[in-house]
Amino acid sequence: MRVPEKLPDYHYQLNPDLTTINWQRVLELFQKINWKHRLSDEIETAFGMSTTTLFICQEEEIIAFGRIVGDGRYYAMLADVVVDPAYQGKGLGKYLVTALNDQLKNYHFVNLSAAPGADRFYKNLGWKKQTTAFIWPQGPKQLRQHCEKD
Ligand SMILES: CC(C)(COP(=O)(O)OP(=O)(O)OC[C@H]1O[C@@H](n2cnc3c(N)ncnc32)[C@H](O)[C@@H]1OP(=O)(O)O)[C@@H](O)C(=O)NCCC(=O)NCCS
Repeated sequence: MRVPEKLPDYHYQLNPDLTTINWQRVLELFQKINWKHRLSDEIETAFGMSTTTLFICQEEEIIAFGRIVGDGRYYAMLADVVVDPAYQGKGLGKYLVTALNDQLKNYHFVNLSAAPGADRFYKNLGWKKQTTAFIWPQGPKQLRQHCEKD
């Protein structure tokens, strides 16, 4: 899928200098969408170890972000695709996913783990359900939300 046009009101930063990022604001966005068990310094470390990061800002404020965890050639995973609820429904999520995916043309295997309720969002963008995916659940919530019943 082609990367959509950038929306004129927003500022897009692909692989910015991560020392310039307001990690408290990133944490706030995670909390706004109810992904609450995160810590600002751990988020910063995780983004720092990612192969690609993408942020969308309005003026100076981050309103959306996403990242890729990859090995540079064979395996990559999209992660933390998040749009501030106040800015959802404007095409920013679609932009994040397609622009990140566009960075992965050389890769052998590209996947992601969708949040509950986001299946249709990814299917609409051309992603396919992976029949061979497995997860090692990190607790009962993941067992409930991400696993088939045996
Ligand atoms: C899922 C999320 C990233 C979508 O962002 P968004 O900016 O609102 O999405 P867009 O405006 O780009 O929508 C693109 C298309 O997907 C559709 N869509 C958006 N969210 C959807 C959802 N949860 N389920 C089904 N379709 C969805 C839109 O209607 C739109 O369809 P269209 O192209 O036919 O008009 C955003 O709701 C979000 O941050 N959710 C919380 C975190 C999350 O679940 N992240 C993704 C899973 S890892």
